[in-house]
Amino acid sequence: MSSELSVKHLLGIKYLQKEDIELIFKTADHFKEVINRPIKKVPSLRDITIANLFFENSTRTRLSFELAEKRLSADVINFSAASSSVKKGETLIDTVNNILSMKVDMVVMRHPNPGAGIFLSKHVNASIVNAGDGAHEHPTQALLDSYSIRERLGEVAGKKVVIVGDILHSRVALSNIFALKLQGAEVKVCGPKTLIPKHIESLGVGVETNLKAALEWCDVANMLRVQNERMDISYFPSTREYVKQFGLNLPLLESLKKEIVIMHPGPINRGVEITSDVADSDHAIILDQVQNGVAVRMAVIYLLAAKIKQ
Ligand code: CP
Repeated sequence: MSSELSVKHLLGIKYLQKEDIELIFKTADHFKEVINRPIKKVPSLRDITIANLFFENSTRTRLSFELAEKRLSADVINFSAASSSVKKGETLIDTVNNILSMKVDMVVMRHPNPGAGIFLSKHVNASIVNAGDGAHEHPTQALLDSYSIRERLGEVAGKKVVIVGDILHSRVALSNIFALKLQGAEVKVCGPKTLIPKHIESLGVGVETNLKAALEWCDVANMLRVQNERMDISYFPSTREYVKQFGLNLPLLESLKKEIVIMHPGPINRGVEITSDVADSDHAIILDQVQNGVAVRMAVIYLLAAKIKQ
């Protein structure tokens, strides 16, 4: 296995090789052990400064990156667009160049525009980590999702994973498809036809519009939120109708003839895509996903920082 990543930035899973994912997971295994020690910190990145730039709301990703950076002893600055001079008309490039002039080595950025991280990587001299760009990619979410499947089921290769819900507006779905396929999993998507992108089969995934059939098929179901904030028209008749056809509840789960693993990237709309009795049950690994996010993000930052130091 290579000891370094093939990329200088983490812009999307699309740009990674299978060996990159293996290296990230092996490194995350080490950091997971570190963060379970009484002293949860290592001095690895004492000479690195990281800016977390969030132009869109976040709870898990923002806190998880910040904690990962602090566990690695990096210097950290946080920027939230809502309370910044972006509100006075400052451009993305001007904002980032001003921040970089304070000697920042790495930028972790969430932005509503697809491709914002790619654009930035061509215009600034820092390592860029995409923390979610519109409906495009959310690479660290997909990495922590696969890491959590590997932890629960031993490996990702050969596993059958269904991604359920609003596939059309989901960066989590696209990054998961790329990551799972790269590792040799079988993938299906399931949801209303209006929320499944046309030609998605060209990515090597199957399409299923019957939730029960999809659940009977899979080893893992990743339940996604309906992203109302990205919708300008109605994609299904009503939330009640959606819940009836695509909501996961305990009677449906217990009607299956086998045990399956339930995942959700958060935030959850309880009672819509998943009921509380499923989300809070032993079938679900939702909080394991969040916990693994810190170790996986430590691994990503550590490995990218090693490329800066070269
Ligand atoms: N999963 C995820 O990206 O959650 P946040 O939007 O809270 O960061």
